[in-house]
Amino acid sequence: MNGQIQVFADPADVAEAAARLFVNIIAQQGGKQFSLVLSGGSTPQRFYHLLTTSPWREQIDWGNLHLFLADERFLPLDHPDSNFHMIRETLIDPLALSGGGVEFPIGNIHPMPTDGTVEESAIRYESELRQYFGDDPPRFDLMVLGMGPDGHTASLFPNHTHPVAPWVLPIHHSPKPPPTRLSLSLPVINQSRHVLFLVTGHDKAQALTSIRQSEVKPLPAGTVKLHDGQLIWLVDDAAMGLPSV
Ligand code: 6PG
Repeated sequence: MNGQIQVFADPADVAEAAARLFVNIIAQQGGKQFSLVLSGGSTPQRFYHLLTTSPWREQIDWGNLHLFLADERFLPLDHPDSNFHMIRETLIDPLALSGGGVEFPIGNIHPMPTDGTVEESAIRYESELRQYFGDDPPRFDLMVLGMGPDGHTASLFPNHTHPVAPWVLPIHHSPKPPPTRLSLSLPVINQSRHVLFLVTGHDKAQALTSIRQSEVKPLPAGTVKLHDGQLIWLVDDAAMGLPSV
């Protein structure tokens, strides 16, 4: 298994550990601009909500933070199933409404475009990454990833072949609805300075066991191996297949 694994009793403890690591990683940047990639799905929502509450909210310099997405479902950004819609609902809007009203500066939030064709949107998002990172492959400061029961991460699914060149991939025939998506590519993920995997629940135990046992043909989440960075798996007992106490 690549990286280190930290096991916690339940999803609440995983979310708190993620918040603690997030604050520490940002503090290491010393007030410089910080590129954060967030994932969709249900697992990270507890973590996103926690960041909007004390004491975590006050410890983060939100004005220096640029927010990107690891993947996106090819739906209108106000669709209830959109990853960006979920992040806006659980993180962006509550921060703006919280005490002291945290507003992300315009231009610091980078949703994946979901109008036009998915191929055009992938090219447009890559252009947006080039505007931020220049022409070197993007090296995000922190990426928060989830893992599906089949071992997928972002929108990189088992038995799907993905070209390595593009930074942003158009995805068709996703086994997790909707079928059409956008995803950062594995080489971009592996360039990150820090990756936190948040994995909870019994339904993840089989895939996590396969990855922990480093089976010959690793599942997509098991292929995340940072070239020069810190990869930490934050998992709960259920995802480890341990009995709930
Ligand atoms: C999505 C996510 C996806 C997610 C995993 C885990 O579009 O759903 O980006 O990659 O991280 O499917 O989802 P859960 O956290 O809901 O189990």
